[in-house]
Amino acid sequence: MAAIDLYDPDTYLDGAPHEEFTRLRQADPVHWQDIPGQPGYWAVLKHADVVHVSRNPNVFCCEAGGVVLEDLDPERLSRMRDMLLSMDPPRHISYRKPLAPEFAQRVIAGMETQIREITADIFDAIGDNTDVEFVHDMVGPLPTQVIGQLFGLPEKDWEWIHRLSQMNTSGQDPDLNPDGDLSEAGSADSSMQMAMYGMAFAESRRSVAPQGDLMDVILGQEFNGRLLTDGDIGSLLVQMITAGNDTTVTMMAGGLWALIEHPLQMQMLRDDPSLVPGAIEEILRWFSPLHYFRRTASEDTEISGTKISKGDKVAMYYTSANRDETVFADSQAFDITRSPNPQLSFGIGEHFCLGVHLARLEGRIFFEELLRRFGTIELNGLPERVRSNLNNGVRRLPVHLSH
Ligand code: HEM
Repeated sequence: MAAIDLYDPDTYLDGAPHEEFTRLRQADPVHWQDIPGQPGYWAVLKHADVVHVSRNPNVFCCEAGGVVLEDLDPERLSRMRDMLLSMDPPRHISYRKPLAPEFAQRVIAGMETQIREITADIFDAIGDNTDVEFVHDMVGPLPTQVIGQLFGLPEKDWEWIHRLSQMNTSGQDPDLNPDGDLSEAGSADSSMQMAMYGMAFAESRRSVAPQGDLMDVILGQEFNGRLLTDGDIGSLLVQMITAGNDTTVTMMAGGLWALIEHPLQMQMLRDDPSLVPGAIEEILRWFSPLHYFRRTASEDTEISGTKISKGDKVAMYYTSANRDETVFADSQAFDITRSPNPQLSFGIGEHFCLGVHLARLEGRIFFEELLRRFGTIELNGLPERVRSNLNNGVRRLPVHLSH
C-alpha cells in the first residue's frame, strides 16, 4: 500500500514524510508496517485514533513491550517497566501521584526567575561569538541545568551532568563524543554514572534538613506503598533528565528553524511577545519532538474498524496526528496564532507529559530572551537532523546572531 517505510530512520533524515502521512491518513489510517527481523506494528496516524489509544491504557498497555518499537531483551524490558513512562495502571498512578503536585503549573511558575537567569548565563557565555551552532552552544545546556535546579543538585555538578546526559542520548554521535566509547555500552555507562550520582546525592540529602524542594518529596513520600531507595532515586533522576532533555532541545531548535523559515511570523513575535505561548504550541505541533510512542494490545480489539490482535504493537504517531486535516484547518501551514491548537506532542491521558508546564515555561522564557537580545537571527549553514525514527531531533543548526 505505502511506498514508504515508516520504520526506517533514513525516512526522517530530510524531515518527517508529511505528504505520505497525509496520503495514508486518507487511505490507510491504521497502517501495517513491517520491521526487519521482528514483528511489525500498526502505525496509528489520525488524531482521534491516537487519542483513543492513549486514553485506553488497559487495552493498549506499556508494560507488555515497553514504549519503543523494538523488542527488548528481558533485562532491558524489566528496567523499562520500572520507568514511570512505561508503567500501567494502577501501579502507574501510585508512582505519578506523589510527583504530580511538584510539577503543577503554579509550582513550576515559581521557577521563572531561576530559568531566566540560567538562560541569560548561557547567552552571556557565547559572548561576541555571533556565529554559533545553536543546538549545542545555546540550547543544549538549558534543560539539564533546569532539572538540576529542580532537584536541588549542586550547581558545580550541572556541566558534568549535562555532558553525561548528552552521552546518554547522543553518545553515538562522534561530534559529541570524539574520544569516547561510541557503542551502546558507552551510552549505558553514562546512564549508570548518572544513576550512581543520583544515588550518592540522595544519600547525602538524607542526613541534612529538608530544603523545600522536589528532593524532599521524593525522599519523604511513599510510592506504591513504600519509600524509594537511593537506587530508585538514581533511576528517577536519569528518567527525568532523559525525558526532558532532547525533547526540550528539539522544541527550541526546531522552533527557531521554523521561525527563520517564516520571517513574518518571527517579526510578529518580536513586535508582540505576548504571542510567544501560542507560538510554542504551534512549534510543538509543527515540529513534533517525538514521532511516536508505542503500546501493546492486551486483548483483541479494533481501531476505527481495523482489527488489532492481542499482543500486536501499536504506535501512536504524534507527528502525523498533529497535521490531521480533520482537526487543524490548513494543517500544513505554520501559524503561530492558531487557536484552538489541540496538538498532541505531550501525549494525552494517563501518561500526559509530567514536565509539560516546565517545558512550556522554558520555551517561553527562551524565545522571549532570544528575540529580545538578538535583532537578527539567520541561518549560517545547512541544518542537519538526528537520524532516528523516534526523536525528531535537530543535530546542527548553524546560525548567525547579531544584537
Ligand atoms: C518539549 C518538551 C517535551 C515533550 C515534547 C515531551 C513529550 C512527552 C510525551 C509524548 C510523553 C508521553 C505521553 C504518553 O505516553 O501519552 C511524556 C511523558 C513524560 N515526560 Fe515529557 N516531554 C517534554 C518535556 C519534559 C520535561 C521537561 C520533563 C521533566 C522534567 C518531562 C518528563 C516526562 C515524564 C516524567 C513523563 C512520563 C509521564 C508518565 O508516564 O506519567 N517531559 N513527555
